[in-house]
Amino acid sequence: MANQKTLFRFLHFFFFFAILTGNQFVQGHGHHHHHHSSRGDRLGLSKLFVFGDSYADTGNSRRSAGSWLTPYGITFPGKPAGRYSDGRVFTDYLASYLKIKSPIPYRWRKMGMKPLRHGMNFAYGGTGVFDTLVPEPNMTTQINFLQQLIQDGVYTKSDVRSSIALVSLAGNDYGTYTATNGTAQGLPAYITTVVNQLALNLKRIHGLGVRKVTVAALPPLGCLPQSTVMSSFQNCNGTQNTAVNLHNQLLQQAVVKLNNSSRDSAIVILNFYSAFMSAFRSQGNQPGSSKFENPLKPCCLGISNQYSCGSVDEHGVKKYMICQNPKSTFFWDGVHPSQQGWLAVYSALRRSLDQLYY
Ligand SMILES: *[C@@H]1O[C@H](CO)[C@@H](O)[C@H](O)[C@H]1NC(C)=O
Ligand SMILES: *[C@@H]1O[C@H](CO)[C@@H](O)[C@H](O)[C@H]1NC(C)=O
Ligand SMILES: *[C@@H]1O[C@H](CO)[C@@H](O)[C@H](O)[C@H]1NC(C)=O
Ligand SMILES: *[C@@H]1O[C@H](CO)[C@@H](O)[C@H](O)[C@H]1NC(C)=O
Ligand SMILES: *[C@@H]1O[C@H](CO)[C@@H](O)[C@H](O)[C@H]1NC(C)=O
Repeated sequence: MANQKTLFRFLHFFFFFAILTGNQFVQGHGHHHHHHSSRGDRLGLSKLFVFGDSYADTGNSRRSAGSWLTPYGITFPGKPAGRYSDGRVFTDYLASYLKIKSPIPYRWRKMGMKPLRHGMNFAYGGTGVFDTLVPEPNMTTQINFLQQLIQDGVYTKSDVRSSIALVSLAGNDYGTYTATNGTAQGLPAYITTVVNQLALNLKRIHGLGVRKVTVAALPPLGCLPQSTVMSSFQNCNGTQNTAVNLHNQLLQQAVVKLNNSSRDSAIVILNFYSAFMSAFRSQGNQPGSSKFENPLKPCCLGISNQYSCGSVDEHGVKKYMICQNPKSTFFWDGVHPSQQGWLAVYSALRRSLDQLYY
């Protein structure tokens, strides 16, 4: 049992969280939230269910995870709160597009019924469709969580029909493959296995009654700072991006098939690959876009390659460096976009999101 002090801190955190993920949290939108006139409501899409990894997680990962270390969260909400960024992540921008609050993390679900009406975030940083090196629920288990909530009556059939899903798979299966002696020769076959499992998951989510399912294509993994550090953040790793392209082509084929076999063409690919690339090239002259001086260099990085963003030594001395202005960089750390980076990605994807309403 939690003692009273712990419970208080828990509640305090919850309210803090609920307030900060409130209606007008996306600055610069310039309009107020009117639930009855939200874009989502007009099409009856008023809930968001989120599955996947750190690109979408808003606080499910356990307290020992990197997303809870200082300086994560310094831009928003101002301290570490479980997002793998200095601030908001893609989930928050997709929710703002639907004009709903960012759905609460599954981990916080018992803390009040009201926020549940915006859906729920089942994404856990570090996970994949298969088990990874991180001991958190894989995507199958995340979908089981939603299925259980439906069985328990937390969400009715009509709730689920008025929902959309975000599925983020940013490459942890491949990181695990490489770390556990996967060979280059075996990679194409492994990519096929991953995409087949992802397609099954998409079908299952749609089968639970979710109206529209958005699925992220892989970002250019060879352009993540953890790869570009080899070239002082100058060049993307072409070998890695070639593998990414195979994944994305197979995903495209799988979604064409799934769309073709469902009456309502329910699945929309969010092309993170092209969105990241266009953010890298951006001169900042489109609305919502930014010019990033050196887009491949992160804001926060370890002082040497044995450390990463958030590292401290045994005396609590910090072993990372942080840029002066997190708004000036696309990447926050070696793997994750900054809030400004996600805003640029979201801006590049707005037109694809409009397909949800066709
Ligand atoms: C997901 O995790 C569950 C529970 O650990 C496991 O039984 C299942 O085999 C995993 N699924 C996949 C596709 O790896
Ligand atoms: C990877 O290969 C090395 C050397 O063959 C072996 O010692 C190690 O246990 C392997 N690791 C895994 C996860 O299979
Ligand atoms: C690119 O990535 C591959 C696969 O991870 C690696 O073997 C290779 O050394 C990398 N190339 C460069 C130039 O960093
Ligand atoms: C879609 O389905 C139709 C009929 O079921 C079939 O004729 C067509 O070839 C399919 N298209 C694709 C791209 O799979
Ligand atoms: C699937 O259908 C949706 C809705 O019609 C469409 O926006 C999307 O482009 C289709 N995706 C593919 C890969 O065909």
